[in-house]
Amino acid sequence: MKIGSLGRTLPQVQVKIIDAEGNTIKSDAAHPGRMALKGDMQMAGYWNRPELTAQTLVDGWLLTGDMAYIDEDNYIYMLGRADDIINVGGEKISPIEVEETAGQYDSVRECACIGVEDPDGILGQIPVLFLTTKNTYTEEGLIKFLSDKLERYKIPKRFIVTDAIPRNRMQKIDRKELLSMWENRDRLYLMNPIMQTILTRRSIRKFTDREVPAEILDMICRAGIYAPSGHNLQTWRFTVIESRDRIMELKEVTRKAALSKKVYFYGFESPRCLILVSNDRRNPDGIQDASCAAQNIMLAAHSYGIGSVWLNPLMRLCDEPEIREVLNSYGIPGEHIVWAMIALGYPVESGSVLAKKMDVVNYVE
Ligand SMILES: Cc1cc2nc3c(=O)[nH]c(=O)nc-3n(C[C@H](O)[C@H](O)[C@H](O)COP(=O)(O)O)c2cc1C
Repeated sequence: MKIGSLGRTLPQVQVKIIDAEGNTIKSDAAHPGRMALKGDMQMAGYWNRPELTAQTLVDGWLLTGDMAYIDEDNYIYMLGRADDIINVGGEKISPIEVEETAGQYDSVRECACIGVEDPDGILGQIPVLFLTTKNTYTEEGLIKFLSDKLERYKIPKRFIVTDAIPRNRMQKIDRKELLSMWENRDRLYLMNPIMQTILTRRSIRKFTDREVPAEILDMICRAGIYAPSGHNLQTWRFTVIESRDRIMELKEVTRKAALSKKVYFYGFESPRCLILVSNDRRNPDGIQDASCAAQNIMLAAHSYGIGSVWLNPLMRLCDEPEIREVLNSYGIPGEHIVWAMIALGYPVESGSVLAKKMDVVNYVE
């Protein structure tokens, strides 16, 4: 038996592969065709459906809806339903092969591949992969993974992160629905990378040792700086702490103060880096401005494959003398309140799937 094959043809059943015109072809992996069968077990036709019978039973052959090829040792390989096969400039792609390969990538939860009309009008169709992902997902990473395993033409041209892969009642991938999602993509969020970043971010609380590259950290801080601020005052400060000793020192002093002041303290596991977002307490919009910046920071981090979580306790504890002393040593002005402490790092595991409350929007007519 060969991996991926259905096995050899049986003596009592004849199998041939035909092209779109019904001619028998010599097939191989790159040139599959429709599978036709002939044998004693064959049906006599569809009940009361002469037209369908005439299309399906031709010269004693049963024309299946399956795309397949037969190798030189007479092993048959099925590639999926003929209607689902993707035709990229004459090369045939089995969506199942793409799905099985992409499905092996760690950061992909589920995926489904369809062929859509090439928007550039060159290739006929292009393969598009819809996927649900874990926090660790990056499109770049998946493309690299696929490039090692698939021929170039089989690598999807578009990757669309969505919150669910549509399935029919039989739990099979609903490819018609995917096509309609593709066709409506401009109206949906699908092709908008910002919406994809927003919808796939999750709080991450466990991080690897891997350092966050300085240039990425710089971009993440820039995302904070570019947040809106009331009256455009921009009185905030972003304090970046990467030293492990300093992170541990802050964790310890915060933990102790939280304990004595009965402030809830959780989620401070193993950050590779902290960004303290503080703002001048005399600015009445200080908390809102800091929150906008904090969210920008978390989204920017996620867009680079870096996990984050907002840790809250400092907002209540930053005026405790032992904490203020540490904040002073970072150069944070005494009149600043630390509204958000953002823990960052490459995620050890993906964030949990959270059910968001969807009934919180009220459109007033
Ligand atoms: C103002 C604020 C304070 C938060 N404080 C903490 C915290 O102290 N510790 C923590 O682990 N998570 C904290 N979080 C993260 C929330 O628990 C998290 O956002 C929420 O559970 C929803 O999960 P999601 O971020 O994955 O959507 C905080 C979030 C916000 C917005």
